[in-house]
Amino acid sequence: MKKLEDYVRSIPDFPEPGIIFRDVTSILQDADGLQLAVDSLRAMVKELDYDVVVGPESRGFIFGVPVAYAEHKSFVPVRKKGKLPCETISAEYELEYGTAEIEIHKDAIRPGQKVVIVDDLIATGGTTEAIIKLVEELGGQVVKICFVMELAGLKGREKLKDYAVDSAIVYEGK
Ligand code: PRP
Ligand code: MG
Repeated sequence: MKKLEDYVRSIPDFPEPGIIFRDVTSILQDADGLQLAVDSLRAMVKELDYDVVVGPESRGFIFGVPVAYAEHKSFVPVRKKGKLPCETISAEYELEYGTAEIEIHKDAIRPGQKVVIVDDLIATGGTTEAIIKLVEELGGQVVKICFVMELAGLKGREKLKDYAVDSAIVYEGK
């Protein structure tokens, strides 16, 4: 029986020399891989009391929506700047070169709602940190953060030390 990590294709020296790119498309293009990934995330939230799944564009949508659907929760998208049509709040975060900005609809989360964040990957943790800021600014409470993959060498977890974090696959390197 194959494990989830067996479905991840690792590409050396992409996008630059020395980096091993962990390709999520290779999980998705296999029915068993996709099911295993979503089921792994579902297992992380099974016993949890929460209201909403929040996932960031774009790879966070791929995994966040099936979890929300299967667990009968609502889904709130966090999008890259300029995509959401109604009133938003935004947060900036660091990229390797420069900054990026993400947004959430102001009315997407009500004060007191319990939130699970789902994304495909934690690297530096910058994206997740920005999502937490948005959720908390709206009065939501982040009760768990779930990833398919974690690049532990980048120490993203250190940015999230006040939160419950779980990753289906942990890679020791970057
Ligand atoms: C990737 C990945 C995570 C984030 C992790 O998204 O899907 O969301 O980076 O990196 P971090 O922990 O250092 O913030 P990316 O911004 O490349 O966009 P995509 O999901 O649209 O591919
Ligand atoms: Mg992403």
